[in-house]
Amino acid sequence: MKRFEKPILVTRPYLPPIEDFKRGCEEIWANQWLTNNGPMLQKFQKALSEYLGVPETNLALFNNGTLALELGYYAMGLAGGDVITTPFTFVATSHALKRIGANPIFVDIDPETLCLDPAKVEKLITPRTKAIVPVHVYGNACDVDGFARLGEKYGVKIIYDAAHAFGIKSLVGCGDMSMYSFHPTKLFHSCEGGLLIFKDAAVQHKLHELRNFAIHSETECVDVGSNAKMNELQALMGLECLKKIDDLLDYRQKIYKAYEEVFVDCDEVKLVQYSQNKAYVPVLFKDFETRERVYAELKEKCNVFTRRYFYPLLTEFAPYVYGKGACPIAENLASRVLTLPTYFGLAPEDAKTIAENVKEIVG
Ligand SMILES: Cc1ncc(COP(=O)(O)O)c(C=O)c1O
Repeated sequence: MKRFEKPILVTRPYLPPIEDFKRGCEEIWANQWLTNNGPMLQKFQKALSEYLGVPETNLALFNNGTLALELGYYAMGLAGGDVITTPFTFVATSHALKRIGANPIFVDIDPETLCLDPAKVEKLITPRTKAIVPVHVYGNACDVDGFARLGEKYGVKIIYDAAHAFGIKSLVGCGDMSMYSFHPTKLFHSCEGGLLIFKDAAVQHKLHELRNFAIHSETECVDVGSNAKMNELQALMGLECLKKIDDLLDYRQKIYKAYEEVFVDCDEVKLVQYSQNKAYVPVLFKDFETRERVYAELKEKCNVFTRRYFYPLLTEFAPYVYGKGACPIAENLASRVLTLPTYFGLAPEDAKTIAENVKEIVG
């Protein structure tokens, strides 16, 4: 088994050439404007609008994805209602619901895509249901047609947590709203940041107020807003990373292929195959003990740091006392899943070596 001299982390952020970033900083210094809807933020918004093919009126930027979700949920009127969502996600999907006083109802996932299954969701829709929040987990596309049908049939909002799905053009504009996280662990980032894309342009004004304390004018504050504004340095980082987006996306495919080539003939390791942007490299092992052994031995013997993403399942965390057995597929998969290193700059040969080490560990 090969031990890497320097640690290989599960991810590393892309950093643009420092000279380009400095040039942007000079612009910020000249503007003397650091936050509150500044010129760099407006440039970033325009560039995103062009890249995504979404009018500027139908998107809004935030200082992180969690607050984007929280304010997005609130603006869509979910406070006080039931919202059907997945337990197989990062805690933020549900935390943002709880924080506005909505009640997350967890439904089990599809064992292949690891996303919510519209057929299972439909059985739990009640008059109290205000929305469904599916997650394109790891960049695996949800059944967007199935959810669109449920939205129409029951008059509930469909809000996607698309934190992992940046760069998947076919998913842009699905549902009533989608949230993208620009955290540095994501394939595209703005140091920290979040983006909402929404169908109804009328929501934008509300979101712009909510992200700035719900201050309406010099003398009016109209609601309980938050401070969720993206600042100028974040916007600059986003702009510089966006210049590189095609390369960032291509590189992820290369890394994925390198893993795939090694795992193709290995029944002990199942590579989760459904992501279009290959934002993550999730693999499934036959049981919990094998996953734990691989996680520990990669760390101790190979200097490779993977992530048990998502484990424990969020229905085991104190604020979401669903208890064991409520979502058996998600519980089982959470106990067997591991995400392997992938990032811009990881050598494909190193990805191959990691995969060979995994194979050796599982025997
Ligand atoms: C599925 C999911 N939803 C929401 C978030 C929250 O995004 P952020 O870290 O930008 O607040 C994350 C990531 O961190 C995530 O993975």
